[in-house]
Amino acid sequence: MQALGIDIGGSGIKGAPVNIETGTLLAERLRIKTPKGAKPQPVAEVVAEIVRAFKWSGPVGVGFPAPIKHGVAMMAANVSQKWVGLNADELLTSVTGCPCHVGNDADVAGMAEMAFGAGKGQGGTVIMLTLGTGIGSAIYYNGHLVPNTEFGHLQLKGVDAEHRASDAARQREEMSWKKYAKRLNEYLNEMEKLFWPDLFIIGGGISKQHEKFLPLLKLQTKIVPAQFQNEAGIVGAALFSQEK
Ligand code: BGC
Repeated sequence: MQALGIDIGGSGIKGAPVNIETGTLLAERLRIKTPKGAKPQPVAEVVAEIVRAFKWSGPVGVGFPAPIKHGVAMMAANVSQKWVGLNADELLTSVTGCPCHVGNDADVAGMAEMAFGAGKGQGGTVIMLTLGTGIGSAIYYNGHLVPNTEFGHLQLKGVDAEHRASDAARQREEMSWKKYAKRLNEYLNEMEKLFWPDLFIIGGGISKQHEKFLPLLKLQTKIVPAQFQNEAGIVGAALFSQEK
């Protein structure tokens, strides 16, 4: 079975058709820049452009950087506030003409890792964290997702963790890998104390450079890089098209 997976991010909107039984992309992904301000209608038009580029007419799964309850965005940290309260499933379905189902970006990326990547076959509690513009989180117990966790907004030293330990924070503050690892360590220690996970999976663009910071971390929990790296969002979104 095939579905189109689309990953909406603060800087780019990426999509590709996916074989959802194997988790493989069926064509090279297409990336279009996110329209400035990431407002609903212009973003929906980019999604429609991707649908047309692949001459797609089947189910579409979408990962979006906000908590999403039954298709409705509940909050917006890194995209336009106009999404809040809006039914994203309905908007994208009407603009693209294909049945669209929208979920939180980290939740869907985690679905790909749990099904085919770093979390495959892993029981107990797994926490996937995507380190990018913000910090996205997903938690699984024996492979079951508890949706819409927002652990990137956990308070660390009085501010949101994502303002201290995301990849954007690393770049903004021009941190060395050593300094960044220290920051991330503080955050992950806090997560360990609260959840006692069996495994952390680190995703987001920065996971390509995992050798520079994962070995510097001192944790009780096993920590591994995501296997899909940049494609987890697309593959997971395609899987999510089948969720109720
Ligand atoms: C949002 C999350 C999202 C994460 C990664 C956070 O700011 O609140 O919903 O998963 O960024 O994009």
